[in-house]
Amino acid sequence: MLIRHLSTTGSTNDDALAWAQDGAPHGAVVRADFQTQGRGRAGRSWESPEGLGLYFSLVLRPEIELSQVPQLTMLAALAAARTLEKRTQIPTNVKWPNDVVLRGGKIGGVLSEARALPNSPSRLAFAIVGVGLNINFSRGDLPPRPIFPATSLYIETGKVHSPDEVFAEFLNEMQTLDNQWPGRWHQLREEWLRRDVLQNQTVQVEDAQENWSGTACGIDERGALLVQTKSETRRVVAGDVTLGWEGF
Ligand code: BTN
Repeated sequence: MLIRHLSTTGSTNDDALAWAQDGAPHGAVVRADFQTQGRGRAGRSWESPEGLGLYFSLVLRPEIELSQVPQLTMLAALAAARTLEKRTQIPTNVKWPNDVVLRGGKIGGVLSEARALPNSPSRLAFAIVGVGLNINFSRGDLPPRPIFPATSLYIETGKVHSPDEVFAEFLNEMQTLDNQWPGRWHQLREEWLRRDVLQNQTVQVEDAQENWSGTACGIDERGALLVQTKSETRRVVAGDVTLGWEGF
């Protein structure tokens, strides 16, 4: 496996993107000890101080439709959940589409960015799958979050963990999942549903057009979240999903 390990960078997603455009193979990884411009979903920033977190981005080149990219995000979140669960012996959850949740707190996230093949715009050329995991943050180091407050391995176990070890363990889990996918997607989807904190919960969805609510009732073939409203089952492909209904 090709790994580039930088001490400082802007965002490993940007480095991996440039490397992919330059021909980086499937499975190449860029890791940084410190990011000055770490990015999260929906234009948020991702705190990335040295020694407290793990920050890296994978270049993936499966031959798939662009619409299947959410599955890659989910694979990385599952790999992270398996890694943290084995290390802590604490059941670890996910939250569609990209959060890793431990004891009700957000301990990590995945940010995927995809590029299409120039001559077939619906086919994937490559995806950059960026992963951030909170390793040795203390409570005061983490930005406040109203729902799923941020947590870290240190906060949950009272022990300092080695980012190098967690990284190696993650890569092992990701390799295993990558070997099983897409062939065993159904099994992986079952694991996702077992771990997903949204399952059968009332959720509030904020998409580009509106806010609405319903009951999370599964994941479809492509990795979209299914939400049952009073009148229909709706697919959520992108958008922010939170638990509960605050009544807009
Ligand atoms: C989220 O939950 O909003 C996604 C967070 C993803 C953060 C990682 S850290 C490594 C990679 N580089 C970035 O700039 N972002 C991702």
